[in-house]
Amino acid sequence: MSGQNPVTSTKTWANRWTFLLAAAGSAIGLGNIWKFPYIAGQYGGGAFVMLYLICIAVMGIPLLMAETAIGRHTRHSPLNAIRQLTNELGASKLWSMIGWMGMLAGFLILSFYSVIAGWSLSYAWQIVSGGFTGMTTDQVGDAFGGLVSSADRQIFWHSAFMILTFAITARGIHKGLEKGLQVMMPALFALLLIMLGYSMLETGQFMRGFEFMFSVDFSKVTGEAVTAALGQAFFTLSLGMCALMAYGAYMPANNSIPRTALNVAALDTLMAIVSGLIVFPIVFAYGLEPSAGPGLLFVSLTAAFVHMPMGEIFGFLFFVLVAIAALSSAISLVEPALAWLLERTPLSRTVATIILCAAIWFVGLGTVFAFSGDFTFTLFGKNFFDLLDYFTSNILLPLGGLLISIFAGWVIKRSTMMNELGLSVGMFNLWRAMIRVVVPVCVLVVVITTIF
Ligand code: TRP
Repeated sequence: MSGQNPVTSTKTWANRWTFLLAAAGSAIGLGNIWKFPYIAGQYGGGAFVMLYLICIAVMGIPLLMAETAIGRHTRHSPLNAIRQLTNELGASKLWSMIGWMGMLAGFLILSFYSVIAGWSLSYAWQIVSGGFTGMTTDQVGDAFGGLVSSADRQIFWHSAFMILTFAITARGIHKGLEKGLQVMMPALFALLLIMLGYSMLETGQFMRGFEFMFSVDFSKVTGEAVTAALGQAFFTLSLGMCALMAYGAYMPANNSIPRTALNVAALDTLMAIVSGLIVFPIVFAYGLEPSAGPGLLFVSLTAAFVHMPMGEIFGFLFFVLVAIAALSSAISLVEPALAWLLERTPLSRTVATIILCAAIWFVGLGTVFAFSGDFTFTLFGKNFFDLLDYFTSNILLPLGGLLISIFAGWVIKRSTMMNELGLSVGMFNLWRAMIRVVVPVCVLVVVITTIF
């Protein structure tokens, strides 16, 4: 088994910003812009936002550091990183389960992620081609219903997104994405700021949206909300499935892991909060429901674009940039499984990527048909999309995070982690107490209450 990771032929990234860019590119995506507002809306706003911020600080940041440190220490793809460490330490081979679960989680998440990213492409196209011009807010809502009830249209855009994912993944991150991301991520941020300006100045409901997000109604702090907040924290930081372990493998030795982890978490959280501050004032201004579910972002923003001067252009740019943010996340979702296929089979990178993307595309049809109503299968009152989302975010990722934290805290040598993290003794001990005790206990409590 070679330590060469297929992402790039060089062993480390040339530039110290690249890791930050790649990790932020993985973290910032549909989870921030699409999922965060609608889940916050469903769980009553402030209570959820508070729980989410606690989960990011208490569990997210320590785990982000642990995953990156394991990757950088071994400089292997996730499954081999864990195998090498268990061999070195004489620990159980069962730990490689972490790698397997990560591949499965990435596979399943991307299958529905691509469908939603497809909606974004579809909206970009419809807005710029004048498809929404002159519509009332009700008609904008109906138009969303029209998209999700059409299997054909969703399959078209889901396929388009998977082809883009394939094209970039097959070329490798270096050639494909690195350059692009350096322009796109700031562009996305600039556009979010423009939309934030709109929400602040034009909706007349900014304070109401702000209050909805930040005033905590403690009666809404339920077990279910805690589970959702934990799942969202893992999802949004790309944690629990070794994606950052894979990226950490290329991080230059002189980069500070704690500082980078803090930056990634801060940028990611900022993006989510800004998205919420954009969406909720618009929701209130146009008489929409915060708890509308997965269509929330699409309906609310489109309602605003219809009323904005140059809304066609802004709307087009916005949804294209959301799709690009999704693309940089999608790549990190394929990477662990792809790395494994390349190590284990004689397939070329192109062929392995085609097989993997085709399989993910196929599973994604389940989500398309669940939305369109052609696939009526439900379990515990959840359709295929809800089940996948629930199983991955609320069970697989936390379980992966739990195992990673135990592995990093109790199995790997203290000195190894100390070297990688480069913290002062006091800060290191704090991190270690978090990763050994606080993270596992919190995750375990939530996972157990989720399952039973
Ligand atoms: N974090 C991304 C988002 O918020 C999604 C994502 C990319 C992800 N890679 C991941 C989620 C790995 C979980 C695990 O959109």
